[in-house]
Amino acid sequence: MPAKFTLADGSEIPAVGLGTWQLEGDRGQEAMVHALKSGYRMLDCAFSYGNQALVAKAIEESGVAREDLFIVDKLANTWHSAAEECLERTLAALKTDTLDLWLMHWPSPLNHHGNHPKCPTLPDGTVDYEKEWNYVKTWETMIEIQKRRPEVKRLGVANFGIKELEAISMTGVLPLVNQVELHPSCNQENLHRYCLQKGIQLVAYSPLGSTGSALLHDPGLKTIAEKNNVTVAQCLLSWGVAKGWPVIPRSSSPERLDQNLEIQQLSSADVDEISRIGKASPKRYVTAPWHTFEEIV
Ligand SMILES: NC(=O)c1ccc[n+]([C@@H]2O[C@H](COP(=O)([O-])OP(=O)(O)OC[C@H]3O[C@@H](n4cnc5c(N)ncnc54)[C@H](OP(=O)(O)O)[C@@H]3O)[C@@H](O)[C@H]2O)c1
Repeated sequence: MPAKFTLADGSEIPAVGLGTWQLEGDRGQEAMVHALKSGYRMLDCAFSYGNQALVAKAIEESGVAREDLFIVDKLANTWHSAAEECLERTLAALKTDTLDLWLMHWPSPLNHHGNHPKCPTLPDGTVDYEKEWNYVKTWETMIEIQKRRPEVKRLGVANFGIKELEAISMTGVLPLVNQVELHPSCNQENLHRYCLQKGIQLVAYSPLGSTGSALLHDPGLKTIAEKNNVTVAQCLLSWGVAKGWPVIPRSSSPERLDQNLEIQQLSSADVDEISRIGKASPKRYVTAPWHTFEEIV
């Protein structure tokens, strides 16, 4: 199985990374240190996760050299109109000179001066979007920043559908990566087809179905896992890599972190069967009030 995937610019991205959302406190830091010491080399971080300083501590404690890491971070929704400041704060909090990949977290610019740092609302309770701003303008800003600042090695997006990718393609610069929810119950078939044509690499977030995933208890998946002598989680991650995208599972348990690093070769019949099981129970586990999804999956 591939340990890396090649992006459209010829560079490589690891096939497995560590999701850092909700890794907090001592337990979160210990998990990150364990992951790094065990061989994880890609860290999926975000300004809005509020744990960048913890990530920096974990990197330091792990002893893994910065040049051996692939660090992904994301421009927060409430910072689209102040993108460069968000970048600077990110670099400082992570104690790094560079980001290997900088993503627009959502195509949803929210009021930078609103009543909440993550989800500002209007008096009627609806989402308070940034006025006179849009995600195409944000993408243009990110392109312009990358031209000036060697700190940003690569640009990408997250939570973009075909409509949003089409809109930003008018700038002439396509994202190298589109990070989206991606597992058998949310297989993103149309988006995957589109991204393959355009040379945009999908990256699977919530590849296990996030917290409380029903997939981990699916009897059909359990049967395939037992047959292959692996866990259901390993089956789900191996399915993703076999389908052609990197996976970024999160765990706070050392044992499960080790497990998730072991991608197995599945037969094409098993890959197809996992796809079929997922299609029978379509579900998105991650959503947000500012989402722009047109389809459930
Ligand atoms: N771009 C975006 O908008 C976006 C959105 C969501 C997520 N993400 C990224 O994607 C990463 C992963 O997604 P996620 O955190 O939503 O969920 P996930 O990785 O799909 O699932 C995490 C859940 O699965 C459990 N788990 C992990 N390994 C397991 C194993 N081997 N066996 C059984 N259970 C296991 C974890 O519990 P334990 O901790 O107890 O093991 C946790 O409850 C995030 O951390 C974040 O970096 C990005």
